[in-house]
This record gives sequence, C-alpha cells and structure tokens, in this order.
Amino acid sequence: MALRDELLCELEARRGADISGQALAERFGVSRSAIWKAISALRAEGFVILSAPKRGYRLRAEDDRLSEAGVRAALGGAHAALPVRVYRTLDSTNREAQRLLAAGEPCPLLLLSEEQTAGRGRRGRAFYSPAGEGLYMTLALRPCVALSEAALVTAAAAVAVAQAVDALAGVRCRIKWVNDVFLDGKKLCGILTEANGSFEADALDSVCVGIGVNVRTRVFPEELAERACSLYPRAISRNRLAAEIAARLLDFAAGLDARRFLDEYRARSLALGRTVAFTRNGVERRALAVDIGERGELIVRRADGQIEALSAGEVRILPPESGTLRPGADIQHFLSKP
Ligand code: BTN
Repeated sequence: MALRDELLCELEARRGADISGQALAERFGVSRSAIWKAISALRAEGFVILSAPKRGYRLRAEDDRLSEAGVRAALGGAHAALPVRVYRTLDSTNREAQRLLAAGEPCPLLLLSEEQTAGRGRRGRAFYSPAGEGLYMTLALRPCVALSEAALVTAAAAVAVAQAVDALAGVRCRIKWVNDVFLDGKKLCGILTEANGSFEADALDSVCVGIGVNVRTRVFPEELAERACSLYPRAISRNRLAAEIAARLLDFAAGLDARRFLDEYRARSLALGRTVAFTRNGVERRALAVDIGERGELIVRRADGQIEALSAGEVRILPPESGTLRPGADIQHFLSKP
C-alpha cells in the first residue's frame, strides 16, 4: 500500500485523536518529512487534517469525505478483503459497476461516489445525487440464487440499509415494498438492483445493487421536498454507513437461500396490514397486503378473497380509513369503499 493510503487508514482508524509525526514515521519506517509530504498531499485532495505542535496530526472528527481507507477502517473482520473504489464523480455507480464487470472485474466489489451526474432510479427516473450530501454506492455480487429469485437480493439490501441506519443514527427505519427505506413517513433511501443472467437457464450471473441514502441534505428540490428526507442533522459518517450496509448485505447474500432477513423485512414493512393500490393491465386495483412471500413478493388479498402475489411494480399505501387488515369487520369496511 502506498504511504498516502497507509497514513489515511491510520488517521481514519483514530479519527479525531492526535498522532505525532514521529510515531507515524516510526510506524511506517519513513522520515518525518515523508509523513509531512503525504499529509500535504491528502490536504490538497480535500481531507481536513488538523495539526498542532507537540500533539501531531488528526483527521477532523466531522470530516465526512469518502475514502477507501475510511470504509476499510470500518469494515474490519470477515470483509476486510472487499475491494472498495471511491470516486469523486461518476455518471452512476451502477453504470460504472456494470462497465467494470463487463471488463472482467471480479465480484464482490464496492463502488462509492461523492456525486452522480446521472444517478438512476427505478423505472427510468433520475436519482437526486448532489456532491457530498448522500451515500451513493453499488455493491456488485454473485449470489447463489436463480435469476427468478433475484428480488430477494433487493429485499436483503433494504433490510441491510434499515439495520445499518438504525445502528448508526439511533432511529427506526421502515421498508416500503419493494425497496424504499423510509424514516418518519418519508423516503430516506432508494435501491436499484440490476441483474445480469440468462432467462432461458434461469441463471443469475451477477447483480449490481445500487443504494442511494440521503445523509446530509438540508433542502431538497421542490418536487422531492414533500416525499424525501435525510439523516440531517444527525452526524453520520458515510464511510461507516457504507461499510455497515456492505457487511450486512454480504452476510445476507452468502445465505440468501436461508432467507434469514425476511422476518426482519416483514417486521419493518409499511405495507403489511394496509390497503394498497397497484396497477394491473392498466387498471388500478386495491387489495389488502397480507404477507411477504418467500421470493420477496407482496402477497395481497383482493376484495373477492382471491390471493395475488405482486413481484414487481409499485404500490401505493392508502390511508388507514381506506381499509386495514384486521379480518372480518375491517374487510367489510374495505369492501364498502368504492
Ligand atoms: C429509486 O429510488 O428509484 C432507486 C434509487 C437508486 C439510487 C442509487 S444511488 C447509487 C446507485 N447508482 C445509481 O445510479 N442509482 C443507484
């Protein structure tokens, strides 16, 4: 590892604490002036490294710049060898992951970018990705499931995000089927999973799980302001958040068959027990959301009692007065609504 990277790892691991130039020089077997030069180079890149005579150097505790060293310092243990690439700007981390996979890069692979100039959402929508405000990451994986079960990866990702955010921010995130993570009734994170494989053989080759979390955004564009939220003013390290999400998702993906995350998904679901609206063949329908199936599909019960499994698309959760799950009386109530 280059001195710059080793130094950054050390500063990240002891973020907010002083380390003397002498101690760093001894640790890496170089001169103090080599340390000083590497520190200057990091500062020129934008890292806020404070220094004080007799105390040494330290990475400012509030510095939230993304770095491979920062993610690595938080990853630790079982996932220490995960290749991590950090970019200042990209069109889209999902697109870059697809380009790297096409060029033969091995999986797993984690990509992060400070900003995206063409961040992508589901259904061809754009994803708002301003510099330094969000966590824009893609984890490329080769999970051992069939292509027809790829939706499980998205469900696992939603649980991984919800758990990671809860752990770092001390909140309780919920999940809106199929893959939006909500906080206090607004969307905090969107997930775009793109699978590569063969339909004929029902074989999944790789998936790029793109995750966008609003971390520091104070003001959203008008069209998002009503629906989106961020973790601001909670001071969350994006490096740590990326590491926590990636580690959880890698663990879930290793045992995707066991579907250990599904109960957690159900417990966090905003849809279960509620009346949802969805579109089938151009017609809007309403039904009661009753379960999450073993492939991550939303199981709904229609007014005529028919059970249907929704495996793709979007649902709108209707206000409670439109009908709720409690069997019997409430179903009647639901049926009486137009
Ligand atoms: C959605 O809410 O519709 C899904 C949004 C997914 C956004 C993430 S940000 C990182 C990755 N790169 C992209 O271009 N999109 C995903």
